[in-house]
Amino acid sequence: MTLKLKIWILLEICLLSVVGAAVMAPPWADPNLNPCAKEPRGWQLLFWPSDGKCYKIFQVGHPCPEGMELSPATSRTGKELYAECRCPPKHALSTVDGKCYQLFTLGPCLEGYYFGPDNIYKNNVTTSSQQIGACKKIPTCPNANSIFWIKGEKCYQKLTKGPCPKGQLLTVDHNEIPVCACNKRKELEMFRGADDKCYQHFTRGPCKEKGTLFLPDQTCDCHDFLPHHHRETNKCYELGTIGPCNKGEMFTILPKTSTGGCVCRNSNIRYKNNNSCHRPFTQGPCEQGEILLNSTTCIHQPCQRGELYYPSDGKCYRIGSGGPCDKGKIISFDFKTRPSVDGVSYNGVCACGKRNCEGEIECDKSKGLTRYGDKCFKLYSQGPCAKGAWLVPRREGRELLTENELNGAMCECISGNVRRVRMIGNVHLTECLPQTALLAEFLNNNFTQNKLNY
Ligand SMILES: *[C@@H]1O[C@H](CO)[C@@H](O)[C@H](O)[C@H]1NC(C)=O
Ligand SMILES: *[C@@H]1O[C@H](CO)[C@@H](O)[C@H](O)[C@H]1NC(C)=O
Ligand SMILES: *[C@@H]1O[C@H](CO)[C@@H](O)[C@H](O)[C@H]1NC(C)=O
Ligand SMILES: *[C@@H]1O[C@H](CO)[C@@H](O)[C@H](O)[C@H]1NC(C)=O
Repeated sequence: MTLKLKIWILLEICLLSVVGAAVMAPPWADPNLNPCAKEPRGWQLLFWPSDGKCYKIFQVGHPCPEGMELSPATSRTGKELYAECRCPPKHALSTVDGKCYQLFTLGPCLEGYYFGPDNIYKNNVTTSSQQIGACKKIPTCPNANSIFWIKGEKCYQKLTKGPCPKGQLLTVDHNEIPVCACNKRKELEMFRGADDKCYQHFTRGPCKEKGTLFLPDQTCDCHDFLPHHHRETNKCYELGTIGPCNKGEMFTILPKTSTGGCVCRNSNIRYKNNNSCHRPFTQGPCEQGEILLNSTTCIHQPCQRGELYYPSDGKCYRIGSGGPCDKGKIISFDFKTRPSVDGVSYNGVCACGKRNCEGEIECDKSKGLTRYGDKCFKLYSQGPCAKGAWLVPRREGRELLTENELNGAMCECISGNVRRVRMIGNVHLTECLPQTALLAEFLNNNFTQNKLNY
């Protein structure tokens, strides 16, 4: 065998293994689509028709307008390649001035408005996913002391943690845009801890010593005149947390005495004088084979395998059957009970069957949560979505990825990222990759492609 032939065979094998791993050269590396691909290192260049020159892909600025990057887009048939100028990730294009602005900021808008995603797409000829943005009015909250958190579509009290990450509080910036911040502004001064982060008063905040809270004088301390004070332990605890309390309880202000004490959390109940609280219809404090019915009664667990107890009529029904439920609904587990914490629950609830049924699952909007399938997630976070995607409110006429998106929110590539569906074995895997990652991945496999282009 000649050396040349050996090299060709080697290249062929390399190319096959590249294809086998489903890593394909991006379309702009194809000289039939992109005239610039013929040049040395041409897979990094895109043809720009207006001046007939080749430009480096993903370059920001010239030949694109300032702030935009040169991006490839192929036609639906994959036969034509366009170079287009696109906004960077998390930015969107304003159709008013043709510029890119960061989403959820003031952008080009007037005070009282914000620049938000618009549910239309510029171009239906290419597969471009250029996100369009538009000015939208910031809704006002019923309570004047509250702020509308745009990404969660919900009002929160000003200068509380609300939807913010730890160490930041909800406020507005100098453009009146709601933000999570801990900046030098005067209103935040009194919330600043020794660690230079901002915390709500009467929370644990930056406090390290157990039983102390972050107080309005910015110290970590505990005083017996505070309702957060717990006499038995002589310590202070955050309200609504477990504090010094037992399983199934929370620490709160007791209405009778206006002092801190322990009560059953949410829908838990206390059986007789037991010192912990339990979900009804779990074993709780009852004997083996029994379930807790109410604060005075344990009953023998009455259901067969595969059945759940329906409290309203005290009967057992098969999981997934219609039982006594309204049309379209079926007997289902009570997903509010967490088996790891509460134990196995025999509580049957009527839940949405499949389609066209008002969701039984209510997401806590006070926490900025939205529904995806039968779970709750934060809007504009990754939530259940693939890497590089985020959860957005559902849009009319958009292709849904899964049935989970029938109600509630849907996953979408963060604007600026590119959706790619790969076959791994025989499952489709959807990914949303930054353009730079696509390029890097391609470059990692550039050996064969690179050589073949010469
Ligand atoms: C999309 O295409 C249709 C017909 O092909 C056209 O009528 C419509 O105006 C286009 N929409 C946009 C936003 O370009
Ligand atoms: C409370 O219930 C637990 C079982 O969860 C039991 O071990 C304990 O003895 C009960 N305490 C009282 C005071 O009834
Ligand atoms: C608990 O349930 C039993 C049986 O249904 C009933 O007799 C009793 O009154 C209930 N107790 C309370 C406190 O509701
Ligand atoms: C890809 O090409 C670059 C520059 O030509 C080179 O530095 C790099 O090692 C190549 N990667 C691989 C995996 O061959």
